[in-house]
Amino acid sequence: MVQQPQTKPRELVVADPTTGASCPIPAPNGVSKGQGATHASFVVLPTGESARDTLTVLDNRTNKVYTIPITDGTVKATDFRQVQDTSGEGLRLFDAGFVNTAVARSKITEIDGAKGILRYRGYPIEQLSEKSTFLEVAYLLIYGELPSKGQFDDFEYEVMHHTYVHVKLAELEQSFQYDAHPMGMFIATMAAASTFDPSGNPALAGSDIYTKDRKLRNKQIFRILGKVTTIAAMAYRHRIGRPANPPQQGLSYTENFLYMMDHLSEPGFRPHPTLARALDVLFILHADHELNCSTAAMRHIGSSLVDPYSAVAGAAAALYGPLHGGANEAVVRMLESIGTVDKIPAFIESVKRREKKLMGFGHRIYTSYDPRATIIRKLAYEVFEVVGTEPLIEVAQELERVALTDEYFTSRKLYPNVDFYSGLIYKAMGFPLDYFPVLFAIPRVAGWLAHWSEAMDEPNAKIWRPRQIYCGEARRDYVPIEHRAETDVRLTEMTKTASSARRRISSWEGKKAGKL
Ligand code: CMC
Repeated sequence: MVQQPQTKPRELVVADPTTGASCPIPAPNGVSKGQGATHASFVVLPTGESARDTLTVLDNRTNKVYTIPITDGTVKATDFRQVQDTSGEGLRLFDAGFVNTAVARSKITEIDGAKGILRYRGYPIEQLSEKSTFLEVAYLLIYGELPSKGQFDDFEYEVMHHTYVHVKLAELEQSFQYDAHPMGMFIATMAAASTFDPSGNPALAGSDIYTKDRKLRNKQIFRILGKVTTIAAMAYRHRIGRPANPPQQGLSYTENFLYMMDHLSEPGFRPHPTLARALDVLFILHADHELNCSTAAMRHIGSSLVDPYSAVAGAAAALYGPLHGGANEAVVRMLESIGTVDKIPAFIESVKRREKKLMGFGHRIYTSYDPRATIIRKLAYEVFEVVGTEPLIEVAQELERVALTDEYFTSRKLYPNVDFYSGLIYKAMGFPLDYFPVLFAIPRVAGWLAHWSEAMDEPNAKIWRPRQIYCGEARRDYVPIEHRAETDVRLTEMTKTASSARRRISSWEGKKAGKL
């Protein structure tokens, strides 16, 4: 008979939750000494009303028990500092990418990712996109309520009367290379805008101007919402080699933007109402999405109390990436590279082999259909009625159909997101591909400002400063370069790059000196 290896049962003990001091579990009646511990298990349960909505944490390293309050379905990370090891080091929570960590309390946007629900200040996105306008939604996001008629008129007046930019800022945009990516121009110009406003610079005017002075905060909101379309339109005009159009009063926010983009010399030019409305709806859909990468960046940068222009520039940089606001551009490039419906199966296989990504699919929060994608898909056909059908829509629809019936995508709950169809509308409307992220950034400024303003009102706000787990070298002493071994392959590679750079510089210097 084969002897089964005996696993030693873990010895259970009763511990004093305060000191961690332990004593053996008394054997239950009728069980001889030594046997009780192997068959019994004990759970320390706090009792009484105060123990409701708490988490009991037993630290097996020290036998200590902690009671951590649960509020709004969350525990405070700082409550875990008291959970210390024998050296007194407190426990930290590790969450790379903030996958399950809340970093702010917010009343702005609610998403139920499983049910596909998106609401701004409680209003369903479907109702807002059908009945509201972008500027009204911006007011709602920033100030918490839909405006009365008088409130809206004041807001619209303030925003539209801050659409002009300083001539030097316009010159700055003119100085970019003719083929500069418009997002780079947008980010740089937005950051530069802060230099035209010393009264709004906390370094000069006081570190607490934005937490204390609500009027100044509002003024910056009007200025940034007003100027963002002008800065964006100037980037576009520069790219196509046409002079910038000054902003026009008497047009809606979106109409004025399209006017600055498209007006040549036609008298009484007004953008097509269907296209202006379609863009307005797209702006509504993109205005906020709670703590996405760029909005989290806005809050992060804003937590240092820097001016909001600089924070918006930083948030825009976060949005520029292909996993975020750059995805709409990437979707169209992907659809163009697929080209025709018959190439879809091969493309899907390459995604499943992880050689490619299905851009415009997947979302950290939505595990069902993104409600914005549903609205945008319908909107696409309204735009096509005016400008003609975009042929890639056929490829997009078939790609969606194939993906939604494929186990790879369904098992990972990957559905089309907001970027899957928006790029096709922008393309059909004649916007260049690399301009798509700018079209995402303009409306998202409203959300960024709403979150920034909410953060400025937070009485217990702190500068954002996450912790790391240091896994580098322990302390070591400096070795002079002549005593270091030349063995590292990577170092050799770096030397090659440096010397080829040196060759380029010396050849350029030679040209400059007229020697070559
Ligand atoms: N194509 C193929 N596989 C995907 C995709 C995709 N688009 N998205 C996620 N997956 C897979 C991923 O490989 C992983 O598989 P496994 O578990 O086998 O390793 C699984 O699905 C989970 O993905 P994840 O990368 O852990 O999810 P995440 O929450 O970290 O990333 C995302 C979310 C949006 C960055 C990602 O889905 C993605 O890269 N999508 C494509 C880019 C895109 O469309 N971005 C726009 C997002 S919506 C608008 C916005 O907020 O900007």
